[in-house]
Amino acid sequence: MSLSVRSPGAPESAPRNAAPSSSELLEFVRRTAADASLVASLQLDPEGRTWVRLDGPGGSEAWLIGWPPGTGTGWHDHGGSHGAFAAAAGTLREESLAARIPTEGWKTLELADGVDRARELTAGRGRAFGAHHVHQVLNQSADEHAVSVHAYYPPLPMMRRYSRTGAVLRLEQVERPEEWL
Ligand SMILES: [Fe+2]
Repeated sequence: MSLSVRSPGAPESAPRNAAPSSSELLEFVRRTAADASLVASLQLDPEGRTWVRLDGPGGSEAWLIGWPPGTGTGWHDHGGSHGAFAAAAGTLREESLAARIPTEGWKTLELADGVDRARELTAGRGRAFGAHHVHQVLNQSADEHAVSVHAYYPPLPMMRRYSRTGAVLRLEQVERPEEWL
């Protein structure tokens, strides 16, 4: 038998080291995206993406990322981490799949009709995503840089990268953190 003792009137709160939820990560990325001086401190490069690592809440991995016009991530997952991201400047388009994709045991997969989703994130707008989310993020502007804030928990253990031809998704690569350095 165990007894749980709490002093009368003590507030009930989550343990201090609880894993941050997707909504907490969303709150963090939206608040950080609204930090004009931080966003302005990111160096922008017209030739490619730029990034700065941030301190995410509760041990999460967080990044401030600059996207020149015409850049994008390609299709990927987050290796089982959940997360959130928010635009801080410009507009990002997110294309995602409204279907649970098996993580193992296949090389190509034909997507069913109707699983594609797309949304535009203008400055100040964000979204949270679950551990099995597959998406790509793009700056489709012809002339405007975009800046965004991203957070993942647990810190990304790996990412699966996919190519896509029509309805067919193909696993191309599994990236591990040591390959990003
Ligand atoms: Fe992503």
